[in-house]
Amino acid sequence: MKIAIGNDHAATDMKFVIKEYVESMGHEVINFGTDNNDSCDYPVYGKKVGQAIVNGEADCGILICGTGVGISIAANKIKGVRAAVCSDVATAHLVKEHNNANIIAFGARIVGIELAKDIVKTYLEAHFEGGRHQRRIDMLE
Ligand code: RB5
Repeated sequence: MKIAIGNDHAATDMKFVIKEYVESMGHEVINFGTDNNDSCDYPVYGKKVGQAIVNGEADCGILICGTGVGISIAANKIKGVRAAVCSDVATAHLVKEHNNANIIAFGARIVGIELAKDIVKTYLEAHFEGGRHQRRIDMLE
């Protein structure tokens, strides 16, 4: 899959670890930055990744900021984006199975790197269940 990734300054170090991890799973990663630790504005990166999803440049996305919240709110402003904050693996598979989330978000100040890897792997390997869940997603649109 092609996976868009974006982050703010709170998550640059974690982003590079996650990027390498996702590539080691055989996926292509499109990195939208930021790539340094200088203070920046998370809406910029949430928007870039959200746009990459809706224009078909990427199949799904990963967003990381301090909490995962601000950057996911930014992405969710774009029609067609369903970005879900995950801090545990149960949520990570359920947001794909039930919500068909096209972006997962998490907080570099909230989850450790091993849990972050587990969240990403679980999400990428999960499958949307369709059926009644598709009806509810249609209602969101
Ligand atoms: C940056 O300090 C922090 O506010 C940001 O990374 C994020 O946690 C916002 O939701």
